[in-house]
Amino acid sequence: MRTIVVTGSASGIGRATQQILHDHGNRVIGVDRHDADLRADLSTLAGRGELADAVTARTNGQIDGVVANAGVAGETPDVVTVNFFGAVATLERLRPLLERSATPRAVVTASMASLLPSDAELVDLCLAGDEPAAVVRATRLVDAGQGGLLYPSSKVALCRWVRRAAAGPRWAGAGIPLNAIAPGVVETPMVAPMIDTPQKRQALAAMVPMPLHGFMTPETPARLLAWLVGVENSHLCGQVVFVDGGSDVVLRGDST
Ligand code: NAI
Repeated sequence: MRTIVVTGSASGIGRATQQILHDHGNRVIGVDRHDADLRADLSTLAGRGELADAVTARTNGQIDGVVANAGVAGETPDVVTVNFFGAVATLERLRPLLERSATPRAVVTASMASLLPSDAELVDLCLAGDEPAAVVRATRLVDAGQGGLLYPSSKVALCRWVRRAAAGPRWAGAGIPLNAIAPGVVETPMVAPMIDTPQKRQALAAMVPMPLHGFMTPETPARLLAWLVGVENSHLCGQVVFVDGGSDVVLRGDST
């Protein structure tokens, strides 16, 4: 039986992923701030340490997959500390446990929001691993009325981090496929306040065009996440897989 760690397991995409992996016969360790096998706040250094210690204690130091999925929306610095630094810490801290598996896999939930306007300085600070400076920059953006840049910036940084790390010695070199998914709009509690009137729904659909089937349920990205941490995924390396009803195609067109 494979053991897979899923963060953000109490709600939305993480909850659906946990259920699918469980139904497929995996042992799943759900991680969240509440209603989870392991409670940890991934916005803090202490919470990230607790995650690694608790998973190690429960697994004798070996796991087969990580789904780094926990994330938040909004316009507070938490968006950067959870979505980028929390996700990277989850992957890095659990990587030694993956190395002991015969078929290790890792995936992170990014977003199609990586295609929207972002802040280059914030992205660079994230990729430099400078969390205090990134929080200062995020706070400045919020104070300047540009808090809307935080979420796309956190996801741009995450996609670039995956692209830079995946083919290197710590991931591909250690036999661990590392990839990201980039969902379009998924109807979860995170998005609920953005689509609770027909007007808001229309406004979000205009920002995130999804010509194929429109907004999706959490099971759609969850099925992809489950496949990406499964044994069948042997050769996907450093990909950002858009599961977005076509928003990438509409917004970015030719990608080569
Ligand atoms: P959700 O709000 O339903 O679930 C997110 C889960 O993450 C919650 O259970 C929450 O408690 C947990 N979480 C948040 N901060 C945490 C922290 N500091 N420590 C531990 N757990 C924490 O949201 P949803 O939609 O399921 O989002 C999951 C991921 O998918 C996020 O990374 C989000 O950015 C991403 N995403 C969501 C999209 C959407 O349209 N819903 C689209 C693209 C990406």
